Amino acid sequence: MKHIDPDSFPLKDLHHLILGAVVPRPVALASTVDRKGNRNLSPFSFFNAFGINPPTLIFSPSRRGKDNTTKHTYENMKEVPEVVINAVTFDMVHQVSLASTEYPKGVDEFLKSGLTPLPSDIVKPFRVKESPVQFECSVTQIIETSDRPGAGNLVICRIVRIHIDEKILDAKGQVDPDKIKLVGRLGGDYYCHTSGDSKFIVPKPLQTPGIGIDSLPDSIKFSEHLTGNELGQLGNLEKMPSSEEILEFSKSAAIRDIAGSPSGESERNIKLVAYAKQLLSEGKPEQALKVLLCL
Ligand SMILES: Cc1cc2nc3c(=O)[nH]c(=O)nc-3n(C[C@H](O)[C@H](O)[C@H](O)COP(=O)(O)O)c2cc1C
Repeated sequence: MKHIDPDSFPLKDLHHLILGAVVPRPVALASTVDRKGNRNLSPFSFFNAFGINPPTLIFSPSRRGKDNTTKHTYENMKEVPEVVINAVTFDMVHQVSLASTEYPKGVDEFLKSGLTPLPSDIVKPFRVKESPVQFECSVTQIIETSDRPGAGNLVICRIVRIHIDEKILDAKGQVDPDKIKLVGRLGGDYYCHTSGDSKFIVPKPLQTPGIGIDSLPDSIKFSEHLTGNELGQLGNLEKMPSSEEILEFSKSAAIRDIAGSPSGESERNIKLVAYAKQLLSEGKPEQALKVLLCL
């Protein structure tokens, strides 16, 4: 394990380290205008949702590490405290990257990137037509974390209007990750998908608290065959099965097959553990726990 004092670590290396370790980051494509109405468009991955009531987004156009200057997005919001934050999809990611070029102030990155400006309902900055979710925001606060190179400028935005393309919604009216196809930012030049095989399900912890790994019998808790994730799934269960339930389960065909096989006890146990692991991988922790309790 390496131990780092950030105050005495080279800034560039610290930048790579933090950006590589805090991933994936969502990307905000921020559209602003200066007081003369000149448009600016730039992506920011120091970005997140921060509250729902009031609906709040945050992002940070930081001070440039190389010369400690401030970014046009920050300067524009100081003049006109409004921003449209546009979600970034895979289909537009190269145009968004192009918009991140350090063009001189006053250059319109809508023109440079070829992305299409749409007038907003409430705020002056334009929306990006190609983006399936556009948040019109008023800037309520900007917190400058320091005046040193690389310092963050935490912009707190209140969402005042949301525009959503219905095509990215599921039957319940919620955003479908496989339809919206957003990208995430990793370290270096890496990005990630948030759809298809890149995503997986972790069931939300139950309303009633899970039993916890500490409540599992020692033979399971300290098993050398079960991983932390597998124990986590078991600990998330609402209750331990009763001895009647275990007995009933032990009569199932799969368990009878394993228990009745001519192999020795240790081989049978290995098969039971393998079966439990298979059930866990299929998202069936209740059955997996019963299998393990048959050991
Ligand atoms: C995907 C992506 C994410 C970025 N995230 C940030 C960020 O969070 N903060 C930042 O200061 N710069 C970030 N940048 C760099 C800015 O987009 C870049 O400095 C841009 O030129 C700033 O434009 P402006 O001066 O017109 O505001 C990012 C670039 C890309 C491509």
